[in-house]
Amino acid sequence: VVDIRKLYAQTGLFTYDPGFTSTASCESALTYIDGDEGVLLHRGYPIGQLAEGSSFMEVCYLLLNGELPSQAELTDFTRTITRHTMVHEQLSSFFSGFRRDAHPMAVMCGVVGALSAFYHDSTDISDPDQRRISAHRLIAKMPTIAAMAYKYSVGQPFVYPRNDLSYAGNFLRMTFGVPAEEYEVIPAVEKAMDRIFILHADHEQNASTSTVRLAGSSGANPFACIAAGIACLWGPAHGGANEAALNMLKEIGTPDKIPHYIARAKDKNDPFRLMGFGHRVYKNYDPRATVMQKTVREVFDALKVTDPLFETALRLEEIALNDPYFVEKKLFPNVDFYSGIILSAIGFPTTMFTVLFALARTVGWVAQWNEMISDPGQKIGRPRQLYTGPTQRDYVPLSQR
Ligand code: ACO
Repeated sequence: VVDIRKLYAQTGLFTYDPGFTSTASCESALTYIDGDEGVLLHRGYPIGQLAEGSSFMEVCYLLLNGELPSQAELTDFTRTITRHTMVHEQLSSFFSGFRRDAHPMAVMCGVVGALSAFYHDSTDISDPDQRRISAHRLIAKMPTIAAMAYKYSVGQPFVYPRNDLSYAGNFLRMTFGVPAEEYEVIPAVEKAMDRIFILHADHEQNASTSTVRLAGSSGANPFACIAAGIACLWGPAHGGANEAALNMLKEIGTPDKIPHYIARAKDKNDPFRLMGFGHRVYKNYDPRATVMQKTVREVFDALKVTDPLFETALRLEEIALNDPYFVEKKLFPNVDFYSGIILSAIGFPTTMFTVLFALARTVGWVAQWNEMISDPGQKIGRPRQLYTGPTQRDYVPLSQR
């Protein structure tokens, strides 16, 4: 067996692989994807089974610890997360530094990064206990911070976490409730929210996770690393696609306009792409999109609402999947295609969609970060480059140019 790292080091060989389409940056035991078959496993468990039978807390435990918890372990873990949901009161003042119309992802980058200033104990990343506490703090505080970002944007007072509610229920109340008033968490919506969190929990070495790993590889503070992940996730080619997908569906409007947009997506002179379609790894139906589509119907039934955009989305999928362009390029709906419709039905504005993605992906980011730091062979990430600039030349003084 050839040790490729040694071979490269001895021979000076390196690969040129823009977008890392065929370069593994690490070993990982967390998540497995077979993009051709449309398979996604967390620690070996299929995403469909987890979304159906598990809970987000259980999936968090699984990703962090490698095994499903016993009832006692789950109760203990849930209690620990609940205990960490409060944020330092001073953190609230960060929000008022932002314009009200700031994109909540901009707010999230700043506020989550600022957590590093509150937890100095998190800087000793060689200590597994400190890493664990940082992971718990991040998972626990993300819903609180996300809800605060929403409340600030709509000019309402912050709602404090309540320890007797579930992770998803607490988040819904902090987002849509009013301080000191009862807020009724609708069980079907709470379940849908929990399931959406499960579907976004981890997805191996995507751009934001790779960003977290790269930032963390220098030994940086975990809160700062997660802020870097949030920044990367914001882009429309990544987590921002759920916002872009719903905006696109609104722009298309009615099914009769679909052929026009399909033609635009196929036109190489037009930058338009079908948002929520295509994936770097999945060359088959994204298994998360299947669950997401089913969840749309459940939320509609629970809230007794419909959305004509769902019909447009279903028709768009049908037309695209029968179009030779999309068939040949193996472009299928991804997780973002239907998620916006559900989130919109629950009441979230489009600008919050990527925030919810970041909230749920935090467990994947911290689990991947912890796995990397725990690896005794871990090195600082330092990609090579193919230099294309000028060869050496002499400096010309300004007076002679
Ligand atoms: N609509 C139209 N054509 C597309 C689409 C699309 N959504 N996606 C890819 N293609 C075409 C490209 O034009 C390209 O065609 P070409 O070979 O003729 O040049 C071919 O399919 C391959 O596309 P690439 O961009 O090279 O594929 P890559 O793996 O780099 O990109 C990506 C994957 C970024 C997800 C892409 O499919 C895309 O932009 N999709 C829309 C945005 C989106 O939904 N992102 C969410 C991804 S899931 C997530 O982050 C959670």
